[in-house]
Parts: sequence; structure tokens; C-alpha cells
Amino acid sequence: MRLMVTGGAGFVGSNFIRYMLDRYPDYTIVNYDQLTCVDKLIHLSDLFSHDRHKFVQGDICDSALVCETIKWFGIDAVINFAAETNAASTAEDTELLARTNVFGTQVLLDACRMQQVKRFVQISTGEVYGSLDGPGYFTEASKLAPTNLYASSKAEADLLVLAAGDITHGLHVNVARSACCYGPFHYQEHSFIPRLITSAIYNESLPDTRDGRHAHDWLHVMDHASAIDLVLHDGKAGEVYNIGSYNERRQSDVAELILGLLEKPAVRLPNKTSVEATQQIHQTQQTYRINTMDPSKLAALGWRPKYTFELGIVETVAWFEHNHAQWQQLMEVRSKELKV
Ligand SMILES: NC(=O)c1ccc[n+]([C@@H]2O[C@H](COP(=O)([O-])OP(=O)(O)OC[C@H]3O[C@@H](n4cnc5c(N)ncnc54)[C@H](O)[C@@H]3O)[C@@H](O)[C@H]2O)c1
Repeated sequence: MRLMVTGGAGFVGSNFIRYMLDRYPDYTIVNYDQLTCVDKLIHLSDLFSHDRHKFVQGDICDSALVCETIKWFGIDAVINFAAETNAASTAEDTELLARTNVFGTQVLLDACRMQQVKRFVQISTGEVYGSLDGPGYFTEASKLAPTNLYASSKAEADLLVLAAGDITHGLHVNVARSACCYGPFHYQEHSFIPRLITSAIYNESLPDTRDGRHAHDWLHVMDHASAIDLVLHDGKAGEVYNIGSYNERRQSDVAELILGLLEKPAVRLPNKTSVEATQQIHQTQQTYRINTMDPSKLAALGWRPKYTFELGIVETVAWFEHNHAQWQQLMEVRSKELKV
């Protein structure tokens, strides 16, 4: 099988590629990524030498290049991880969210139709459902109620994908909505877990975890990969699948766990007077639960996550301890090479 993975230089996409190359010795993966910032290269450091991994630097909004790539490699399925994942803070960011996440998805769908690609999987997020302030879980039938522009753009893309499956020429489409991913090769300045681990390792000031009101469901990135593998091969046409993992934790709880593993004192959290103070916040304020999805529909296809949060985080912390310094150096070298 020949897969085109868009956004495969990102954290989640690159781990999916690693998983698939390892699991399917006869698959070729075309990684189509714009490399929106140079540090994305770091995710590919071990993949560049792999003979079944082909890299094309391109924009998913570039219809001609997308079509040419699909045709040239004889692509059977497209898995769309490419997205603008930073929250919008300026008008320029907002435009980028709409361009990449919405328009780019439509360009890919049109190209798949024109080039008769058989399957399309859209990588989406549980954030499209908004948040819960009481018990229960979002299901695939829950209403879409995004609370930020990133989540709105992802929700819009989901609808485009589902419409393409219904109306256009027999393209088999699926949407997979996942919880917050964590794991190895996570180099994202704006992401909580990698920032916390690296700041703690280097004794820098830690990300703020005082807001104890938000709890996220956390999913190991390799469990995400196995879920997408299943959706790609066994997903029913036109269906949405939630990838929840029942691993809800508040950021402050995650911080305590990680700082404990790194043997760093919890009192280093900025502006936090004590662990008791944070617990008090938890007790007195309502909790907003984000990405809390029921994964039963996916479980019915046979999906079982391999990682408990405790196991996954121990492995992730160990991975950063062993690899982060080397990564930093590699990134500096690559940045200089690109500037020359
Ligand atoms: N990280 C998470 O916890 C999480 C959770 C749920 C869903 N997702 C989804 O998974 C996907 C990947 O997320 P990630 O965390 O790996 O993000 P990321 O920012 O690390 O990766 C996104 C990749 O897309 C590429 N890209 C951006 N614009 C592009 C364009 N116009 N053309 C081609 N490539 C482009 C970037 O260069 C980058 O390599 C996204 O669709 C995101 O919405 C992520």
C-alpha cells in the first residue's frame, strides 16, 4: 500500500509514520509537509534514512503539487495530519487557520477525487466538542461546540470530509477525533508536557499550572497511531471515531507526577504557594473537562490502548532525558544549514 501522510513532519504524524513503517514492511509512505517551521525537521531525524519513507516539501493548499504527488507515487490512501495547530492570537493567525485547516483539507479531498484515491482519513481533535462541566463523555453523536478558533477550523474540516464521502464519487472517508497526545519526539514550544519536562530538566521556570479548572484526557501518541491504523483499514465508510483513553488529568496533577519522576521539587511551580493551595482551587472551582471522549465505537473495531498514563509518562520522561540535549544540538545545526 502507498500512503500519503500530510503533516508527517509534525509530532503526531511523524510518530504515525514510524509506527506504520515498523508494522507494514511492504508499505511506502510519502510524507507531504510544508515544514512550517524548521524545528519540524527534528521529528524526521531518524526517518530520512528510511528507504520506504519519501519526503515531499509542499503545501496542502497547492492543488497542482498535491495532485502531482498523488499521481507520481500512485497513492492509495491519504491521511491528513497537516494543520495549523497554534491557537490564533492575531488576524494573520486566524487567516492561516482557515487557509490550512479548512481550505487545505478541501484541496486534498478534491485531489483525491480527481486522482481516484480510495481512502481518506482526517485527523481531528476532541476539542471540536467543546468542554464538559459535569460527568459523562462525548460520543460521536455529541454536538459540535468548539470554543476556540483552532477547534472551529477543525470542526469545519471534519464536515467537509464527511460531505465529500457522501456526495463525491465513492471516496471512502473517516474522521478520527483524538484526545491530547503526548510521547516521544514531542518538540512543540506551545505544548504543556514537553515544555514542562524540558524546563524541569534544565531547571528553567516551569509553565504555569495554577489553573486547576481544566482537565484533559491524555493519549499516548503510539496508541493514537494504532487507532489511526485501525480506522484506515477497518473504519466504516463515512464514520467518525473518537480516540479517548479515560486518562483525564489536570495539568497541575501531571506536573506533580513529572516533577516527582525527575526528582524536582513541586514548589518550583511559579506563583504557586503550595500544593495545598492548588488542591483548594480544585475543590472550590468547577472543572472543565476537555477531550473527554468515549472510545467504545473504536473499541468495537478492536482498538485497545497499550499505555496507562503512568507507564506512558515514565517512558516519555526517560525519552526526553536521553534525547533532548542531542535534539537541541541537531536542531541548531539544521537551522544554520538552512540559513546558509
Ligand atoms: N497534538 C495533539 O495533542 C493533537 C490532538 C488531537 C488532534 N491533533 C491533530 O493532529 C494533527 C497533527 O498535530 P501535531 O500536534 O502533530 O501538530 P504539529 O504542528 O506538530 O504538526 C502539523 C504539521 O503540519 C504541517 N503543516 C502545516 N501547514 C501545512 C500546510 N499548509 N501544508 C503542508 N503541511 C503543513 C507542519 O509543518 C507540521 O509538520 C493536527 O491535525 C492536529 O489537529 C493533535
